[in-house]
Amino acid sequence: MGDSHVFTTVKPLQKRLHKELENSTIGFFPTMGALHHGHIELVKQAKKENDVVVVSIFVNPTQFNNPDDLEKYPRMLDKDLELLDEVGDVIVFAPDVKTVYPDNYENLKIDLGKLGETMEGEFRPGHFDGVMNVVKRFFDIVKPTRAYFGMKDFQQVAVIKHLVKVTNDPVEIVVCDIVREESGLASSSRNVRLTEEQKEEALIIIETLRFLKSIVDQYPPQKAWKKAKQFFRKGTLELEYLEIIHPLTLKRLEKWTPGAHACIVAYAGEVRLLDNIQLIPFEEK
Ligand code: PAF
Repeated sequence: MGDSHVFTTVKPLQKRLHKELENSTIGFFPTMGALHHGHIELVKQAKKENDVVVVSIFVNPTQFNNPDDLEKYPRMLDKDLELLDEVGDVIVFAPDVKTVYPDNYENLKIDLGKLGETMEGEFRPGHFDGVMNVVKRFFDIVKPTRAYFGMKDFQQVAVIKHLVKVTNDPVEIVVCDIVREESGLASSSRNVRLTEEQKEEALIIIETLRFLKSIVDQYPPQKAWKKAKQFFRKGTLELEYLEIIHPLTLKRLEKWTPGAHACIVAYAGEVRLLDNIQLIPFEEK
């Protein structure tokens, strides 16, 4: 237990990190706040693996293509800090928009190729440009040894790995398993916007993914995809996409391949929920 140290501007944070803590390993976990159990597990892992842990809390406007979604994104800094205090000794960076994007900020443009054309890239144009810009900006400020990302944002992980490859940043990307509520619902900051009834209804997401995994041996991908979509229609959520993809190229699969993965996005009311599952282990088939 111990108090978190909160910084809102760049220079004092850098002074603390790069002068006082020279030669220490820095674990960095970028978040948009509204922290939940899943985030806290990840902070604990980062604390085990590094001398110092920095958590950024910043709702990044440039990655929202829907202004309504940006406005409704939950913001609860005080509660976030309380949760981080329970873990103890975490350095928090909670800047405002001008600090992250000063007037002289030069927008970074990285071609994602096919990685950016599918799924989130298709349904949220510009989203990954915003994610890459903010993550690169934070990497430049924090200069982490390791940076932590949750597997729930499967495509985001692929995008960040691409970013690091292109920019050559000396940071290790650590990918952490999806943390789920007891019901199976993937933990997400957006879950606070769900009613109890919507939370129940949202279970169709994980049920569909598990159903899909259970029929991999019976059908080729296209047929399994159709069956899973039928299964999903038993529920009340609105499907945005369900994709069966190659784990590295993210291309839609024609035939099963090791590491085959499924990603899904659906709306419970106005709340956009995403989840994914590995369908076939890397070692098999
Ligand atoms: O995954 C998120 O919460 C955000 O996309 C991230 C990585 C914090 C960038 O704003």
